[in-house]
Amino acid sequence: MALQVKNFQEYKEAYQKSVENPALFWEEQANTFQWHRKWDKVLDWNFEEPNIKWFEGAKLNITENCIDRHLKDKANQTAIIWEPNDPNDETIRFTYQELHDEVCKTANMLKSLGIKKGDVICFYMPMVPQLAISVLACARIGAIHSVVFAGFSAKALADRINDASVKMVICTDGNNRGSKQIAVKKVVDEAIELGCPSVEKVLMLKHTHQEVNWNLNLDILWSQAIKEQPPVCPATVMDAEDVLFILYTSGSTGKPKGVVHTCAGYMVYTTFSFKNVFQYQEGDIYWCTADIGWITGHSYIIYGPLAAGATSIMFEGVPTYPDAGRFWEICDKYKVNQFYTAPTAIRALMAKGDAFVDKYNLDSLKVLGSVGEPINKEAWEWYDNKIGKNKCPIVDTWWQTETGGMMISNLAGVTPQKATFATLPLPGIQPCLVDTDGNEIEGNDVEGLLCIKHPWPSMLRTTYGDHERCKNTYFSVFKGKYFTGDGARRDKDGLYRIIGRVDDVINVSGHRLGTAEVENAINACDFVIESAVVGYPHEIKGQGIFAYVICNSNVDNDRLEPLVRDKVSKIIGPIAKPDKVLLVSGLPKTRSGKIMRRILRKIAEKEISNLGDISTLLNPEIVDEIIEKAGLKTVSS
Ligand code: PRX
Repeated sequence: MALQVKNFQEYKEAYQKSVENPALFWEEQANTFQWHRKWDKVLDWNFEEPNIKWFEGAKLNITENCIDRHLKDKANQTAIIWEPNDPNDETIRFTYQELHDEVCKTANMLKSLGIKKGDVICFYMPMVPQLAISVLACARIGAIHSVVFAGFSAKALADRINDASVKMVICTDGNNRGSKQIAVKKVVDEAIELGCPSVEKVLMLKHTHQEVNWNLNLDILWSQAIKEQPPVCPATVMDAEDVLFILYTSGSTGKPKGVVHTCAGYMVYTTFSFKNVFQYQEGDIYWCTADIGWITGHSYIIYGPLAAGATSIMFEGVPTYPDAGRFWEICDKYKVNQFYTAPTAIRALMAKGDAFVDKYNLDSLKVLGSVGEPINKEAWEWYDNKIGKNKCPIVDTWWQTETGGMMISNLAGVTPQKATFATLPLPGIQPCLVDTDGNEIEGNDVEGLLCIKHPWPSMLRTTYGDHERCKNTYFSVFKGKYFTGDGARRDKDGLYRIIGRVDDVINVSGHRLGTAEVENAINACDFVIESAVVGYPHEIKGQGIFAYVICNSNVDNDRLEPLVRDKVSKIIGPIAKPDKVLLVSGLPKTRSGKIMRRILRKIAEKEISNLGDISTLLNPEIVDEIIEKAGLKTVSS
């Protein structure tokens, strides 16, 4: 089995080895997996093009590593536990054998519908077991999955479908979310209507049994297509660097990027990081609350845990249904050992009061995890005291869609932990801090821009259909380094603390959104002339969205706000709805016409005592007007 370091000394040794001889280190890890053919070369790379190849020449199928190889001694162990939205509905469990059979049946169904190696399948599906199963079925036959979070709008879905020339969309009729039932197929229909010429079939699983429109030319019913499919499907042998999946994420520009991950390196690293960060032991019950629509769900609900032979819980619902004790009820019900969630959820549940926690027995918990955004001290302490009863290490895992796996995190109970610090890099990860000129900042007790100096197996290989964009975004900002977009601090002991994004990306409830993306959506309102969006500290969401909007007619602020929120919801999805919308007559601009977001951020943060030099602005007078409209002070004060 893959290396699992057990104490700080072992970590230090592993880390040193991984830096001194990365190829040897990762070769040893890779040797613990099942291959059809081993590699000719462990690593070939340059960060200029970039061109990164791990385990070149090797042949494998990731699903044989996630499923088949466990059948010898774990056929009857539970692989996936599915907990429904409604606690009174039935739990569904899949042993590794059952998972194998379901994945094979689904893979055969996809083949019977004409799907071949290299075809792209888009998932617009809530957290049903068939989502995990059919993602694995894609991987089984070498089809590329592109999962789109089922909260995105029809427009956002259509953009993602078209960017990757998707051949088939897989969806459900609807989605159960707390007390609500949400239409899913309807959104797919709307996306298709917007124009998705590459889509040949829409495969729909009945889940909520709500009424749907049926297009005989396109739509196929899952229950019919899967009938009589045999539970055996030979895995397609893939090259190490064949594409495993595409996952879209937001950047500083308006258009989301399709981050591309490949088979072998992703498999090796997600498994390695899963075992080491969570210190997963045989028989443990592990639960990651993320949605499979995000990278956390890909790497740490599906691939990492299954490749490690774990039991992984998948939850359909929301943390507050039927009440704010639901997470803790589930932990108690299944005797969860490792629990992994986002700070937003922790803050939201903390605000509901301790009574919801106290009802449940949380003795089984051994490790708590946090991901997606910086965790504030108060939330960290509540998590530690109330949930972990001060006996569970908290792993604060910093990573990104692009990194594929956890990069900087303490290893539970093995390496030092410090509240609000991601702490030390995992073995194989070589972070550094640079100044704005790209000079590396050495030593401790320093702050800078976070970069990674050396490739790691699960890093992105390209952005789908636009390699230049990958190069420009991540590899050209600082020569010879991968730039993360985050700022970080290294304390006197060399521990890292992530400060947050330094680009025009905001992190709302752990969801990444580009300010340009939200602005484009706002600008699509007929009456809007221009807008500027910034993030501001939000008690629950981490960051909220503040939109400054210039309009061409007499729309007042009260009318403007719902119109803007509705438009953004339609174009991107409800997660991108601005929290605050302010009607302004102008935006502070430099003489070259660039919006001074720094000033807008300060106003949104209500930090107007030190706005810096505004005299060089094209329109300095607008600043006072905006401050007044934001209700912070009057022009004359
Ligand atoms: O700013 C960092 C923040 O989330 C960004 C990556 O977002 P995404 O690609 O959606 O992936 C989220 C799940 C891995 C990062 O650039 N971030 C992620 N984890 C942390 C974090 N910020 C602080 N602490 C973390 N633990």
